[in-house]
Amino acid sequence: MSPNEKIVVVGAGLMGTGIAHGFAISGYSVVLVDSDPRVLDKAVSQIGKLIADGVKLGKINETVAKEALGRLISAPELDSRLSDAALLIETATEKLEVKQTIIRKADELMPVNAIIATNTSALSISELAAVTRRPTHFIGMHFFNPVHKMKLVEIIRGLETSQATVSRLQAWAAALGKTSIVVNEAPGFTTSRMSALMGNEAMYMLAEGVATAEDIDTSMRLAFNFPMGPLELGDMTGWDTRLSVLHYLHQTLGEKFRPCPLILKMVKAGRYGRKVGRGVYEYDADGQKLPGLGLRRIG
Ligand SMILES: NC(=O)c1ccc[n+]([C@@H]2O[C@H](COP(=O)([O-])OP(=O)(O)OC[C@H]3O[C@@H](n4cnc5c(N)ncnc54)[C@H](O)[C@@H]3O)[C@@H](O)[C@H]2O)c1
Repeated sequence: MSPNEKIVVVGAGLMGTGIAHGFAISGYSVVLVDSDPRVLDKAVSQIGKLIADGVKLGKINETVAKEALGRLISAPELDSRLSDAALLIETATEKLEVKQTIIRKADELMPVNAIIATNTSALSISELAAVTRRPTHFIGMHFFNPVHKMKLVEIIRGLETSQATVSRLQAWAAALGKTSIVVNEAPGFTTSRMSALMGNEAMYMLAEGVATAEDIDTSMRLAFNFPMGPLELGDMTGWDTRLSVLHYLHQTLGEKFRPCPLILKMVKAGRYGRKVGRGVYEYDADGQKLPGLGLRRIG
C-alpha cells in the first residue's frame, strides 16, 4: 500500500475520529466527512489531541505529527475529492438507510477500482454492497473503540467480495499496525455477536437487581480477567449504537438477542454512555468515570 493514497472516512463520531487519526499518522491523506459541522469540529480537535498525546508519549515524532495534521481535510459532504480516493470507510450511524445513501453516493464518485468498506457493527455486507456497481470491491472493515488502542481489525467478506479486495484490506490494516482476522458475513460477525449478547445479559441482571452495576463489572474483570466489565464497555460503545445492533441481531438471529427493556429506557432518556457523559455510569468532561454505583443509584 502506498502511503500517498487518499482515504475517505465518512462519519466523524467516536469511530470515524479514531479511524481518521490512525490513517493520518500512518502517512495517508485523509478526508473526514460528517453532515454535522459541530461533530466535524470536535473530531478534528480530538485528532489534534490524540496526535499531541502521541508526541508526548514518544510514539510519534514532531515531524510525523505535523505532516499528519497537514494531510487531514474535513468536509461536510461527499464531493469531487473522492475522484482519486483509494478507499472509503463508511462509519456513520448504525442504520441501514443512512449507510446505503452514503455508499450509493460514494459509488458514483469513486474510481471503479477503489474499495468501499463499512465499519458497521452487525449489518449485512452483501446487502450494503448491493447498492453499488462494485460488489467485488465492497467489504467490511470493523475497527474497535478506542481505535488507537484496540489491536484488531475484523475484515468481513460479503457474498461477492473478491480475494484481491480482502488482500488490500489486510495490507491497510497491517499498515495501521493492526492484526486482522477475515470472517465470512454473518449478523454481528464474531465480535459484535458475542459482546452484544454479554452486554444485554448484564443489563438484564442490572434490571433484575441481581447485583449493582459496579459489582457486575467487577465480577467479569476479576473472575474472568476481562479488561473491563460489560456495562462499562456498553457505556464506551454507546447504548444507542448497541441497541441498533441488538435490534438487528434479534431480527436475524432470534430471541436470545431481544434487547433488554432497560437499554430501550436508557436510550429514550438520552443516557447513551460516555460520549454524552451519562450511561450506566456518569463521566466528567474528560470522559473519566465519576465515583458511584451507577444506574441503580438514580433508578
Ligand atoms: N461505538 C463503537 O464502539 C463501535 C465499534 C465498532 C463499530 N462501530 C460502528 O461504527 C459506526 C459509527 O459508530 P460511532 O460509535 O462512531 O457512532 P457516532 O454516533 O459516534 O457517529 C456517527 C456519525 O455519523 C454521522 N452521520 C450520520 N449520517 C451521516 C451522513 N449521511 N453523512 C455523514 N455523516 C453522517 C453523524 O453525524 C455522527 O457524527 C456504526 O456503524 C457503529 O455500529 C461502533
